[in-house]
Amino acid sequence: MDLELAGRVILVTGGSEGLGAALVRTLAAEGARVAFCARRAEALDQLADEIMKAGAAEADVLPVAADVTSPADLERFTELAVGRWGRIDGLVNNAGRSAAEMFDTQTDEMWSEDLELKVYGAIRLIRLALPHLRAAGGGSIVNTLAVAAKAPGAGSTPTSVSRAAGLALTKALSKELGRDGIRVNAVLIGLLESRQWERRATELGVSTSDLYADLGQNSGIPLGRVGEARDFADLAAFLLSPRAAYLTGAGINLDGGLSPVH
Ligand SMILES: NC(=O)c1ccc[n+]([C@@H]2O[C@H](COP(=O)([O-])OP(=O)(O)OC[C@H]3O[C@@H](n4cnc5c(N)ncnc54)[C@H](OP(=O)(O)O)[C@@H]3O)[C@@H](O)[C@H]2O)c1
Repeated sequence: MDLELAGRVILVTGGSEGLGAALVRTLAAEGARVAFCARRAEALDQLADEIMKAGAAEADVLPVAADVTSPADLERFTELAVGRWGRIDGLVNNAGRSAAEMFDTQTDEMWSEDLELKVYGAIRLIRLALPHLRAAGGGSIVNTLAVAAKAPGAGSTPTSVSRAAGLALTKALSKELGRDGIRVNAVLIGLLESRQWERRATELGVSTSDLYADLGQNSGIPLGRVGEARDFADLAAFLLSPRAAYLTGAGINLDGGLSPVH
């Protein structure tokens, strides 16, 4: 299936590693023009080099060092993409990190940090991108969330609260922006292989493959394994593409059946 992404301009936050990087690779291979940001320039440049060397069909990527918790950085990220390509067709709010603990141990600072990263980061970038999506005649916004948005467990805050806010934002905006041809969907992740799990394995002193095997077998995932980053990339690329033209306001679980709530 041709995703018809060639030439489209897509912005991806948290695009240097993990799920975001897998998506950037996929979009570049589909011929999209991809601006992607993260805080550390080195990982961004490495990925851009890798994509250019791989010679993906007409690969055109723009790595930008930007922190999504900084409104000025988000403005620069948007301006650089529009300055280079003159339009925006899609946007993926993907930057984030795990933040789940028992409620009693948390401070206001921890709550503010999580809301700034996962909720305000998305709100601000969507606000910046909207005039450009409208000018392009429509487009697609994808928010990376977690299954805790629908099924928050004990010890899941603050992230479950931030993710529930992201789901409400997705659904509310899908109602507001449909008339402009702008679709808004969310991907709710269960457990997918990514850089954050590699870091976790190092902290625990185990190999990454042992950690994935353990999580896959002992987390109650009906498919019995952790998913791959490219599972996310495939779904997000589809949601960004015109092939998903009649799909908006959806919060799609990508979790091997893990979540009890669909
Ligand atoms: N993988 C899973 O099992 C899983 C489960 C539930 C939800 N998620 C969500 O999926 C998204 C991607 O996670 P992942 O597993 O791919 O994580 P990852 O491997 O740690 O990658 C995170 C990416 O986000 C960037 N990033 C982090 N904070 C940022 C900030 N303030 N501004 C800009 N970029 C930032 C990181 O680069 P820098 O550090 O250089 O900024 C990196 O490129 C996150 O929102 C995460 O919460 C993942």
